[in-house]
Amino acid sequence: MMICNDITAHEQMAQSPSLLTDSLAIEYNNIDHVHSELFILIAQCCGLTEEMPPDTTLEIMRDLIDQFRRHFAQEEQIIYRSKYKRTSDHVVQHWKFIQRTSAMIQAYQRGNRGVITEFRDYVDEWLSDHSSVDDREFDEFLQGHVLS
Ligand SMILES: [Fe+2]
Ligand SMILES: [Fe+2]
Repeated sequence: MMICNDITAHEQMAQSPSLLTDSLAIEYNNIDHVHSELFILIAQCCGLTEEMPPDTTLEIMRDLIDQFRRHFAQEEQIIYRSKYKRTSDHVVQHWKFIQRTSAMIQAYQRGNRGVITEFRDYVDEWLSDHSSVDDREFDEFLQGHVLS
């Protein structure tokens, strides 16, 4: 009897957009702290200079972008499930970031040491803009707030 009640509750939850959005909002809050962790990693990247050993620099750049990839994968799962109206815009922004930073890493590998400054500034600026505008907009959608 208890099991039947639980199944009904789950079915209702799956059918109700507001309840589903609420549960995704809770999930999203749980991963939101990752943005702070990414900013900490970027702060470490601020110490990168053209003079640093290339192997170390390359490893730091790759590790940072891997963290971004993991974060995007988590965030996008929630975005897809939420039926967010700006899903494709948001996902394309993540994709463009990966394309751009991968190209910079390749340029560095080919010997363009100067690209490190561009990489550092781009990553920092991109995350500041994206998290304060696009991720915030999605967060407000999940919380059910009207955007101002
Ligand atoms: Fe995002
Ligand atoms: Fe994000």
